[in-house]
Amino acid sequence: MYLKVIINRARLNGIPIYCIVLVVTYLVVKYYSSTFKGSYIPLHLHKYLNFSESFKVSSVQLSPRDLNIAATSVELVNFEREVFNEKRFGNVGAETTIIVVQVHRDIERLQYLIVSLAQVHYIETTLLIFSHSYFDEAINKMIKKITFCRFMQIFYPFSVQLNPNKFPGIDPEDCLSSQTSKQFCSNRDARRTEYKHHWWWKAYFVFNKLDWSDKYRGVVIFLDESNYVLPDLLYMLRYSKRSLSVVTGISVMVFGRPYFKDLDYDLLIIDTWRPPYDNGLAFNKTVWKEIAALSSYFCTYDDLSWSYSLLNLFSRFRGGHVDMVSTMAPRVLTTSLYSTGHEAAEKIHMQLKGAPYFPLTVKAALVYSSTGRVDSGVNLPSKGTGGWSDLRDHLLCLDPLSTADQTTDATADDTTTTPKFVILPQINYSSAVIVVEDTMKRRRL
Ligand SMILES: *[C@@H]1O[C@H](CO)[C@@H](O)[C@H](O)[C@H]1NC(C)=O
Ligand SMILES: *[C@@H]1O[C@H](CO)[C@@H](O)[C@H](O)[C@H]1NC(C)=O
Ligand SMILES: *[C@@H]1O[C@H](CO)[C@@H](O)[C@H](O)[C@H]1NC(C)=O
Repeated sequence: MYLKVIINRARLNGIPIYCIVLVVTYLVVKYYSSTFKGSYIPLHLHKYLNFSESFKVSSVQLSPRDLNIAATSVELVNFEREVFNEKRFGNVGAETTIIVVQVHRDIERLQYLIVSLAQVHYIETTLLIFSHSYFDEAINKMIKKITFCRFMQIFYPFSVQLNPNKFPGIDPEDCLSSQTSKQFCSNRDARRTEYKHHWWWKAYFVFNKLDWSDKYRGVVIFLDESNYVLPDLLYMLRYSKRSLSVVTGISVMVFGRPYFKDLDYDLLIIDTWRPPYDNGLAFNKTVWKEIAALSSYFCTYDDLSWSYSLLNLFSRFRGGHVDMVSTMAPRVLTTSLYSTGHEAAEKIHMQLKGAPYFPLTVKAALVYSSTGRVDSGVNLPSKGTGGWSDLRDHLLCLDPLSTADQTTDATADDTTTTPKFVILPQINYSSAVIVVEDTMKRRRL
């Protein structure tokens, strides 16, 4: 309609017809190529994608005034702990599955994670928690657009952004921020210690500080802004939970591992937990209490990596390790292998076209040999890889737990027996012994 009017006007103004045809062709081609480009993403989800590959959230230090505003907002949000979309999806209960996403500043990747979450079946039954270490209006605005499930935001209050010139941010006492000629300074880089602090703090917050925390019996799945999830993540969670009741002694569930071609979508593997099984880690409050009771093995371990610190902590569990049930084919992938979230989403879509999601029968496998159960063992480094030796970091990490209403019924035994770690080559899965076989009718809740 408008087009006709425009063409008529143009002709009246003496513009040659071929010019008009060229312009119209250009517009049509542009429109179709742009819709084609993102065609693997359903149209109604395009509203979550408005940051281009080159978009960067500014990392300039806030002015004292903006810093004040950010700090006040953070305090308020953490105090109010408002859950959005509860009117539509009902109140969060003691059994609600929680997906918590650790977010820093990579909004370009985060938007693809959100789009992937929106396509997960049963996502409407969960609560999404975004735990931020960076306060930014563009990020907040994007999250507020979510309509496909309940969500809330929490903010890590001891971030570098909110503490630019003092511990826990970059402190004059740190060697890295000041002249190296200084004699007494502590070898720590706040930009690198933040991630582990934030991981621990949010686990504590999610399990202890929310309205339903006291009675919480659900599962918390831990993600990161650079993850990308597949549509049957929560469907596989049900199978994983089921296998916990069949095979005893499993503490955690895992949905991510490095991606390989031709992995079985209908297979769950029971094995010892270790990095790199740190994408899409999931556990419940019973396990969290056991972890929290051993917090010093996380908080004083001289390693910047939260997963190696957790591994060190797990070595204090009964038996010297923790068992996991993990999906053989990952349901949580990482986009950090690619230069942008956009590229990652496209490549993942190509690679996984036609993947057999939602398997109707699922097998869980333990690997046995003539000498008993075989597991991949744990190669625990004799000490951490450093970067986490400052006593102030240790104390900050321990603090949210020591000031909390610690329940003392944690069942972990802190024995002094030194755990044995076996290093085994890659497991030969064709010798797997199937221990659980389960069928589930595909149905909507
Ligand atoms: C993102 O979308 C909103 C409207 O939903 C718009 O106001 C904003 O300018 C967009 N941002 C970018 C970077 O495109
Ligand atoms: C939490 O998980 C552990 C280990 O997987 C299990 O033994 C325990 O019963 C679970 N707790 C709840 C409250 O479901
Ligand atoms: C795996 O184990 C099976 C049975 O023990 C054996 O037949 C097979 O050759 C092994 N495969 C590899 C790659 O080692």
